[in-house]
Amino acid sequence: MRNLTERKQSDFPISPSGIGVVLRHFSEVDSTNRIARSWVGERVAESGFVDGGVVLADSQTMGRGRQGRNWQSSPGQNLLLSVVVQIREPLLSNHVARGMLPLATALAVSNTLSHFVAPESVKIKWPNDVRIDGLKCAGILVETVADEAFIIGIGINVNEDSFSDELSETATSLLLHTGQRQDRKAVYAELLRSLNDWIPRVFDRDHAGILAEYTARLAGINQPITLHTPTEVVHGMLVGIHDDGGLVVEQAKDRDRPEGTSSARKVYYAGDVSLTHRLD
Ligand code: BTN
Repeated sequence: MRNLTERKQSDFPISPSGIGVVLRHFSEVDSTNRIARSWVGERVAESGFVDGGVVLADSQTMGRGRQGRNWQSSPGQNLLLSVVVQIREPLLSNHVARGMLPLATALAVSNTLSHFVAPESVKIKWPNDVRIDGLKCAGILVETVADEAFIIGIGINVNEDSFSDELSETATSLLLHTGQRQDRKAVYAELLRSLNDWIPRVFDRDHAGILAEYTARLAGINQPITLHTPTEVVHGMLVGIHDDGGLVVEQAKDRDRPEGTSSARKVYYAGDVSLTHRLD
């Protein structure tokens, strides 16, 4: 690894077990997701495991977001971390966990933010943006390392006091929302607790529980939605989440044809679509 400043001692908390039991805390990295990926590679080569390991950074020079976007964060103000979850069952991992992990993570982040702001103001915009009063406060980027591990990247805007022109209308932080600086270590401790609550449920196959809680937190449920896919623009109703993490949209059928039902449901996936409606 090049140009990294790993802190010799971290004053951030360590979990007694599970996620956060091992912490690598850097002052600056390019991307915690990239560091976590190479950490998995090193340990696998030594036949070791880093399950539950966390890479935390005070600042990133090339923070990665979904759909090729970047993640901006002022040094030392926010939470930037990646959690390594080792894959134990390849069958589960490929399909169900890939869909469920982002949902469970979004719930963990939502519950974390709900400790600092009014819980009813915290909503998830599918698939895993966490918003406060309709403004994005946290983002999640889940990646896989072959059949070895998931990397769950989480960025939470804690004490960011301003955003670029491009983001200023759509983003917020705990500071901007509450008017008070928050202790990053306290937010991190709450996040570890919530992750240790939600992530094991993916592997314990509590998918119904995850989906029920996620749907209860989902912005725009049972409301009109517009989706842009690579080939079409879809107008419909957001009616739920499929157990593989897809968005279930109901569309009116051709009303001139009397036979059959008047609507059809279709599932859309995060990599394929973007939402253009504000789901507040
Ligand atoms: C998004 O909403 O587009 C996802 C953003 C994810 C950002 C976090 S910050 C820590 C981790 N390392 C990265 O490079 N990205 C994720």
